[in-house]
Amino acid sequence: MKTAITEMFGIEHPIIQGGMHYVGFAELAAAVSNAGGLGIITGLTQKTPELLAKEIARCHDMTDKPFGVNLTFLPSFTAPPYPEYIAAIREGGIKIVETAGRSPEQYMPALKAGGIKVIHKCTSVRHSLKAEQIGCDAVSVDGFECGGHPGEDDMPNMILLPRAAEELKIPFVASGGMADARSLVAALALGAAGMNMGTRFIATKEAPVHGNVKKALVAASELDTRLVMRALRNTERVLKNKGVDRLIEIEREKGASLKIADIHEEVAGVYPKVMIDGEMDAGAWSCGMVAGLIRDVPTVKELIDRIMADAERLIRDRLTGFLDADSKAALKVA
Ligand SMILES: Cc1cc2nc3c(=O)[nH]c(=O)nc-3n(C[C@H](O)[C@H](O)[C@H](O)COP(=O)(O)O)c2cc1C
Repeated sequence: MKTAITEMFGIEHPIIQGGMHYVGFAELAAAVSNAGGLGIITGLTQKTPELLAKEIARCHDMTDKPFGVNLTFLPSFTAPPYPEYIAAIREGGIKIVETAGRSPEQYMPALKAGGIKVIHKCTSVRHSLKAEQIGCDAVSVDGFECGGHPGEDDMPNMILLPRAAEELKIPFVASGGMADARSLVAALALGAAGMNMGTRFIATKEAPVHGNVKKALVAASELDTRLVMRALRNTERVLKNKGVDRLIEIEREKGASLKIADIHEEVAGVYPKVMIDGEMDAGAWSCGMVAGLIRDVPTVKELIDRIMADAERLIRDRLTGFLDADSKAALKVA
């Protein structure tokens, strides 16, 4: 399949693996890129720019295909040394960066000087337009369904994607709630040039996380995520667990006066406990509603091949079938 995104990034299939804290290591990024998608290493999971440089080198050892690095610009007072992270990215020969969080405006000159294509992930049309205006090459439009930070507008992708298509000149991928061929074909119909998946890629053989995390995703339904930290305007969609129940109880008690310190135990340092130790009740970790569509733990290649083969069937048989008066395929329910 050829789209503006496959051409821009030099990849075979229009499928991107979004940056994920304590999941987006070289093993997963390389597996996605080797399967013809775009794998992404999560920059800030590497505690120093030197460690990121090593992770990039490890990924180069595992794939000759293009892969990217995610740089999340956090709303924090003690900002990580972003210029040094960008230097590690440039010196590592990376040509694609997924930015997220705050606007990457301040860092665009350094990224562009390195010949890097920037895809900014954001949750609204206005932030997408801002990304276009500051010179981003593409946008990852992240709907309310998404795992992680859906923003504060609560705009689901059925509205957000066609609105983005109406306004943007640069290409965009659909992010949030994407799981399979149906997601991809729907995203293309709504104006996107591909899709970005987070949660779905965690339930793959190569995702370097504890088996309990994969089991929890297969077991979860679409009703099992919760929104936390709304009062802090830092809303996050997470998988429900005992730690999250505690967090929600504290949020209920504190109301609008909630401070980050009140929920420190339920949000700080949770990722290594969940992803490495498999402590599923440790606290808040990002997870999308799409968990309700995850039923197996395939290899990344099996997942991507299945998506592309099913997408072709969906388009050729089901969709064109609607236009063909004699077609039986089009009358099938799904
Ligand atoms: C466990 C997990 C950790 C994530 N960590 C980050 C992160 O560090 N930076 C970032 O930009 N996005 C992060 N995301 C968001 C994903 O890149 C992606 O945008 C999101 O998962 C898409 O929604 P989906 O989960 O419905 O596919 C994370 C998502 C998950 C599930």
